[in-house]
Amino acid sequence: MTAFARFPANRPRRMRRDEFSRRLMRESRLSSDDLIYPVFVLEGQGRVEPVVSMPGVSRVSLDRLLDIAAEAVALGIPALALFPVIEAGKSDAAEEAWNPDGLVPRVVRALKETFPALGVITDVALDPYTSHGQDGLIDASGYVLNDETLAALERQALCHAAAGADVVAPSDMMDGRVARIRSALEAAGHIHTRILAYSAKYASSFYGPFRDAVGSAGNLGKGNKYSYQMDPANSDEAIREVAQDIAEGADMFMVKPGMPYLDIVRRVKSELAVPTFVYQVSGEYAMLKAAAANGWLDEQAVFMESLLAFKRAGADGILTYYALEAARLLKREA
Ligand code: PBG
Repeated sequence: MTAFARFPANRPRRMRRDEFSRRLMRESRLSSDDLIYPVFVLEGQGRVEPVVSMPGVSRVSLDRLLDIAAEAVALGIPALALFPVIEAGKSDAAEEAWNPDGLVPRVVRALKETFPALGVITDVALDPYTSHGQDGLIDASGYVLNDETLAALERQALCHAAAGADVVAPSDMMDGRVARIRSALEAAGHIHTRILAYSAKYASSFYGPFRDAVGSAGNLGKGNKYSYQMDPANSDEAIREVAQDIAEGADMFMVKPGMPYLDIVRRVKSELAVPTFVYQVSGEYAMLKAAAANGWLDEQAVFMESLLAFKRAGADGILTYYALEAARLLKREA
């Protein structure tokens, strides 16, 4: 088109004019199949403790978790991701992490017994169990030890698999954990247990509300995770981390956090073509909730837009605290 043409050569607005043509050219779609619901579980009976920095999210005991799981199943959500709140039994060596009668294995067994078809994903990392709130074992200087931690993660993953976890999800960022866990699972006969590797997990400040929820914030204190989680400045490093986890035998690959890292989601999907997952983390949820509570954003519209954006960026699945609300909405629309 020349600068003086009387008419635009192309009118993209034609396709946007009516709902039928908008529907026809829509590239990405969100469905309940895409959602994973993270849940916080604690000991006891009848306990529902709201997480103050995450309105709408509570830490619940197993009996209440079963109600939540029932709704997730009814809404067509494929899987839950379990995060334990360990109130008693934290230690420097985190032994509670592989106690076969601990909270996680008991909850996994109950969930699989009641809802055999619901996927159960467990978090493999020591932070709920360590007295210092780090994801691994530390030396006298506070440095998180890699290979010593691998031995603990292996025991933790085996404990979860033995309880019936469908997917173990190492979120600790130690080097070599996927290979170590994979070979331990194989040797124990757990050949079907999938590994969801938190491959590109950044040292993010968006995890604050989660650390309140699992009660690791106080233990971590002024500590940080910079020596193992990734620098938010880096992108090539994420590709290298995912590539290593592919080589080590992971089945699913996570980018975390979500919205500030959509470029990473896109690169992982485009360059490596693997099952790509993204975690819309606690801080992202808290931001949307806070703005909505102030009447500054239309909550439903913005969370649905954020979830669609993950799909557009290339995510195959999304961990989100909005999973139930989104699935309810999708069901109503259908
Ligand atoms: C730690 C873990 C974290 C989250 C999930 N697993 C926090 C951290 O690394 O300190 C954060 C999830 C969220 O913010 O929603 N293993």
